[in-house]
Amino acid sequence: MRLAVLADVHGNLDALNAVLDDLALQSPDLTVNLGDCFSGPLWPGETADLLMRLDWPTVRGNHDRWLVGRPDPIGPWEADSLPHLTPAHLDWLGTLPATRRIDDIFLCHATPQDDTTYWLHDVRPDGLFVPSEPARVARLAADVDAGLLLCGHTHLASVVRLPDGRLVVNPGSVGCPGYEDDHPVYHRAEAGTPHACYAIIDAVGDGWSVTFRRVAYDPLRAAKLAASRDRPDWASVLETGWLPKP
Ligand SMILES: [Fe+2]
Repeated sequence: MRLAVLADVHGNLDALNAVLDDLALQSPDLTVNLGDCFSGPLWPGETADLLMRLDWPTVRGNHDRWLVGRPDPIGPWEADSLPHLTPAHLDWLGTLPATRRIDDIFLCHATPQDDTTYWLHDVRPDGLFVPSEPARVARLAADVDAGLLLCGHTHLASVVRLPDGRLVVNPGSVGCPGYEDDHPVYHRAEAGTPHACYAIIDAVGDGWSVTFRRVAYDPLRAAKLAASRDRPDWASVLETGWLPKP
């Protein structure tokens, strides 16, 4: 069985279309989407139309939840995208489950417990974004008995094998190769490349082989759109994979 895993599309239609072209070459048996579908300053409405048409098994990300629930104050990524989304788009987001199980595969956006906690990476008190302690990764997986656990949220591709042999995979972000955040302390996630990222996972014997795909596409249309919407952080990270220097 060949599985394709996408996460954190964030309204980047050009990156998603590049991944679709690559998927046509990879011929997966199943494609899944780990959420954060539309939020950001790019093409939320067009991305929504495409993802709804594709109808992949999808779980809800924290940004999807915020688009539906509209906390006060609303975040800047949601404020950028809401005017471009229809009631039908939001209704579709509202149907997404927080987690999902498909045979021996478990899908979540961030961790099995919630959609905002980092799993395979963690933030140190000094703000450095580092790989999580293995014991912490295993502890957060303790309640799930699936052999393959999939998560997104950090926008950073990573794979960790648990002591009991199970595998946790984050495919990286299709459409947003980095961001900065003030919680719990200021930190920056940067993929270091503008590629559209996803993962191909093949069942091999009793295990899984993981291939991280970095798909080349021209990010300039997206970067220019982000710049025109006064999002220099997005413009920089889309074009280069790095945020602007602090
Ligand atoms: Fe995200």
